[in-house]
Amino acid sequence: METKIIRMDENNIDYEMLEKAGAIIKAGGLVAFPTETVYGLGGDALNEESSGKIYRAKGRPSDNPLIVHICRLEAMFSIVKKVPDAAMKLAEAFWPGPLTIILNKSEKVPYATTGGLDTVAIRMPEHKVALAFIEASGGYIAAPSANTSGKPSPTLAKYVAEDMDGKIEMIIDGGEVGIGLESTIVDLTEEIPMILRPGYITKEMLERVLGEVKVDAAVLEDSSGKAPKAPGMKYRHYAPKGKLTIIAGNQEKVVGEINNRAAMMREKGEKVGIIGTDDTISLYRADSIKSAGRREDEESIARTLYKMLREFDDENVTVIYSEAFDETSENGGIGQAIMNRLLKAAGHHIESI
Ligand code: TXA
Ligand code: MG
Repeated sequence: METKIIRMDENNIDYEMLEKAGAIIKAGGLVAFPTETVYGLGGDALNEESSGKIYRAKGRPSDNPLIVHICRLEAMFSIVKKVPDAAMKLAEAFWPGPLTIILNKSEKVPYATTGGLDTVAIRMPEHKVALAFIEASGGYIAAPSANTSGKPSPTLAKYVAEDMDGKIEMIIDGGEVGIGLESTIVDLTEEIPMILRPGYITKEMLERVLGEVKVDAAVLEDSSGKAPKAPGMKYRHYAPKGKLTIIAGNQEKVVGEINNRAAMMREKGEKVGIIGTDDTISLYRADSIKSAGRREDEESIARTLYKMLREFDDENVTVIYSEAFDETSENGGIGQAIMNRLLKAAGHHIESI
């Protein structure tokens, strides 16, 4: 299959082209598109054959459910059994935006889309191209991140093309995404709302709207062996090809420790990459040294993380060391989401010194 790549800006939307993209979706095909979090791999959420194609294109296990992307609030009502007050409050506060809400599904949503579950994940993205694309496609787009299963989610269209070229009909290139980490997922099917995946919308932000919110234990712990509620969280994820280890502790000691290990590994013939910050990168010695940005600027770290992991792959780096980042969200930050993804990318190899 030839994959058509088209470029489209948020403030210069080509509606004619989106009609074509919508026609592909309505015919059961797949189109990758930009959102404010990461690129999505879209198909018709109400067509089970389309969902099957998404799983095949990603090489993703079919028990791992897809998020249904909508562009109008009314759409939520037709794909769930009941809309609880909490869902309305969240929609009002955070949609369109990087928040996914889980509710009990209606019969309209095929089990192929929900990985066999009776619940459905729903999100209204904030990106203007995404919203117009969903509208042109009939209003219900099932979309996982547009990467091959296991790889870091794409924050640029070129990474979508790397993974999906020849496998899908179209890629809409909207430039670099704004946030860079996937949406926060909150489950509203239990008595107390529960965060299944942390993201840009933090626990504190949700609690201001809902009152008490819990966090699934699988979010920061090593969950291999247990069954997290978001099936996707059990798989090895966001992983670069090189073996990634996180070193946590006092900055000066961390720099020394990483340099020692890097030197040892390079002597053994490994190609070593390091993730530091603007303050530390000049202190490191390795084959490839990258800065996640300023340590205080969590938004820049979030936006850069997957890109750095993908670049290490392109450079054939075999061993990676990363500094740890602040998980506490005292400043309302997205540190928890950053560390959740980094820990998964590292297969939970973290050492405190
Ligand atoms: O930001 C995002 O959410 C991006 C963009 C494209 O919107 N999408 C995304 O989708 O990250 P994906 O498929 O890569 O991740 C969806 C996660 C998976 O971990 C999946 O297991 C979980 O959501 N999930 C989906 N439906 C669920 C459900 N009904 N119950 C529990 N977890 C669910
Ligand atoms: Mg994903």
